[in-house]
Amino acid sequence: APNVTIMPTTEDASQTVADMFLATVRTNPACRLGLATGQTPRRIYAKLVDAVRAGRISFADVETINLDEYCGLPAAHPDSFAAYMHRELFSSAGFDAAKINLIDGAATDEAAEAVRYANLVRSRPVDLQLLGIGTNGHIGFNEPGSSASSRVRVVELSKETLAANQPTLIELHEVPARAITMGIADILDARKIVILATGEAKAEAVRRSLMEHPDDNCPASHLALHADVHWVLDQAAAGLL
Ligand code: GLP
Repeated sequence: APNVTIMPTTEDASQTVADMFLATVRTNPACRLGLATGQTPRRIYAKLVDAVRAGRISFADVETINLDEYCGLPAAHPDSFAAYMHRELFSSAGFDAAKINLIDGAATDEAAEAVRYANLVRSRPVDLQLLGIGTNGHIGFNEPGSSASSRVRVVELSKETLAANQPTLIELHEVPARAITMGIADILDARKIVILATGEAKAEAVRRSLMEHPDDNCPASHLALHADVHWVLDQAAAGLL
């Protein structure tokens, strides 16, 4: 059975996940962390930055690998996930630039970039993988229809995801139509997974993922195949359980 923790507030839920990251890095300072973007992880990253500033942790030896990236955006573009990661975490938490792995959204040969990243993913297991969840149950950019055996690949984003991400854009007027994402099988290869969902908008996706049989139409439901997955929810996201 999955491990489900329900916290009273979004802040408490984010702290719970941040504490799991601190514990993983304290146990293994040279671990590989699988990182995610979106609005949900921002509070976690702010807490990790605070921990570094307070001298409670060092990320100097940590290797990171991110889940996904929009196609067509160079790392320097403010709407790229690479720029997000530098803004929210990397630039203020003492990471070693040589140990940060990101997808090149500007690659002209997208398929070749997916192959390069697949090799990088395969080269070493992730010790702790962070996930958020889309309102349609997606993880990374594994949209409905993604199978448990899916690997790093170029994907088309669903209408629902394009609409959900529209308000988060900084400079672009439209969400890119395609992305490169780790697959479900890549995610399931992590030693430990933590998925944070906050807010009422995620309640139905959380319910489907935890209460229904694993199904490609709700990609996060495939997490049931993993032996060490931790769901961390606030009250609102747990509202339909
Ligand atoms: C995005 C990302 C996912 C993220 C999800 C939810 O598009 N590709 O990794 O978990 O959508 O995002 P948010 O946390 O902003 O709701």
